[in-house]
Formats: sequence, structure tokens, C-alpha cells
Amino acid sequence: MSDFSLSIIGWYRQNKRDLPWRNTKDPYLIWLSEIILQQTRVEQGTSYYLKFKENYPEVADLANATELDVLNNWQGLGYYSRARNLHHSAKHIHEVLNGEFPSEYSEIIKLKGVGKYTAAAISSFAFNEAQAVVDGNVYRLLSRVFDIDLPIDSGKGQKYFQQLADQLIDTEDSATHNQAIMEVGSIVCSPKAPSCAVCPLNDICLGLKNNTIEQRPVKTKKIKVTSRFFHYLVFHFDNKTYIEKRSQKGIWQNLYQFPLIETSVEASEEEKTIWKDQHYESIPIRHLLSHQKIDVVFHHINKKPELIQNNWQEIKLSSIQEFPIPRIIDKYLIEHPQFF
Ligand code: ADE
Repeated sequence: MSDFSLSIIGWYRQNKRDLPWRNTKDPYLIWLSEIILQQTRVEQGTSYYLKFKENYPEVADLANATELDVLNNWQGLGYYSRARNLHHSAKHIHEVLNGEFPSEYSEIIKLKGVGKYTAAAISSFAFNEAQAVVDGNVYRLLSRVFDIDLPIDSGKGQKYFQQLADQLIDTEDSATHNQAIMEVGSIVCSPKAPSCAVCPLNDICLGLKNNTIEQRPVKTKKIKVTSRFFHYLVFHFDNKTYIEKRSQKGIWQNLYQFPLIETSVEASEEEKTIWKDQHYESIPIRHLLSHQKIDVVFHHINKKPELIQNNWQEIKLSSIQEFPIPRIIDKYLIEHPQFF
């Protein structure tokens, strides 16, 4: 076993968090946990993992669920394409692969929604295959320990880091090695104020020696953020309202919402005449995504609309929470019980 592996595994055995998906070798449950944890913090993801495990204990249960049911369970986690891919792949495993979860990296990576990281995580945790995981925590840790200034968002950088991780992996116990490198990266080698004094790698860390920790990892690309303005029309008449389904690709696909008017700049006075009969306008609520900044305003209108679009659905105002809705709308409903 390499010194690197010995150090991180030693630390991991003493300090690891007791997380529910670490007590299983079931590839289905490991897959579930990894998809939930993509772009989600462990603290938030844990309750979703437990809920999915309870509602769909086996891949057949997930495959036999309706998309509506899966999206309802997913509600609040965001990035809903993850849930749709999860459901799609569960059906594929159930119907095409006879319910058998693929047991090799090269097969696992063919599942929709599964990339290199997730395939490495499942094949190492469940089957002990020596596939090195490289996630954000691993990029940060390796760029510091080996003082690497190649950008982690360039093709060249990604290839280099993957090769380095592949060399470092402990082939006897790749499951523990992978869990350990991510855990040290997440808890000790944190983005801000890492705990170098107690780090198991501080004797070999070149970033620490060269005083470059704060400059690692290097990234090239600046993310371009698009501004969007959402105006939701909340009609109130006879205890009823209208909703519509977001069927187009993009954020919140297949979720329900109040009828939406979207503008690319803040609404002009002219556009505002559309909802001039409103009796209440919420303050803008900002929703930040990695590539989008959305300002959402709810306009309450105390009457039946004059023009009804054919994709609108008339529903009882109190039944809206039975539909899968974006988290920002759910929060609004909870925070404004006087209206709903
Ligand atoms: N984040 C993503 N996968 C994880 C795992 N297996 N354990 C802890 N945090 C994680």
C-alpha cells in the first residue's frame, strides 16, 4: 500500500462520519446515494436518501413507480434531470437487464445519468474494482498535495488528475481508499481555511511547503451567468387557480407552476399592464443556479383570467401541493399561508 493510501485510510478509520450509505454494499443503494449527493450537501442529501430507500427499497420498486411519484419524492433537491435519469435507468435495469445491477465499471458507466465519477464510486464501493474517484474534493486535495497548477476545468487538467488518482489508488481496498480521499478532501482539505495542522498528508504536501494552498485548485473558465425574470400569475377565483406544466427542456422540466410570463429584462410598465388587476405583488425572490440568476415575482389576481391558455389546468387552490412544484414555489406557499 502506498504511503499516501496508508495516511488517508488511517485518518479515515479514526475520523469518518457515520453516513447511512456507507453501511451497504448494495450497488443500487450506492447508486441512489451518489445521484442524490451530486450537487447536494451531505446534510441535505441524507434525508432524501433515507426517504428513497424507504419508498423504493429495491431497483424494481423505483422502476415501477410513476415519474410523478419520483419527482414528488425528489422535490426540493433541484436539478430534476437527475431524478428523471435515475428513474429511466431503474426501468432499464429492471426491464432490460433482468433486474441485475451491472457489476463492472465499463457497464455501469453506460447507465443514463452516470458519469466517470459515479461509475468509479459504484464499482469501487460495491465491487471493490480499482477505479479512482475524482470529484471536486479530490481535485482540490490533489492540486494542493502535489502543487499542480493545471486548470481542473480543462481537458488536459482533468486527464492529468485522473491519471494521478489512478496511480495513487490502493488496489487491495479501493473502496476504503476512495471513501478516504473524498473524506479527507471534504473535511480536512476544505475550500476555505483547511485544517493543515491535523492533516494526515501534511508531511508530504507540496502546496503547504510552497505556500500555494490558497491558489489551488486553478480554474480557467469564468461561468457566464444569465439573468432571467419570472412573473407568476396567481389567480384566485372560487377557491381555484390555474397551473401549467413546464414541459420544455431546461430547469424544472415536468414540474408544475403558476402561469408564467418570462422576460429577459425587468418587466416594462407596458408588460405590467397584463397583470394590472393584481391585488398583491410579492417582492422579487432571487434563485441562484450555477449558470442562471432568476428573479421571481408572484402577482396575485383576484379574478378568473379573461384569456385562458390551453395548457393551463384549473385546480383547487388548496390542492397545489399535490403536484411536483419547484422548491421556490413551495417555499412561497409555506411562507404565505394567508393566500393558499
Ligand atoms: N459525496 C458524494 N458521495 C459521497 C460519499 N459516498 N460519501 C460522502 N460524501 C459524498
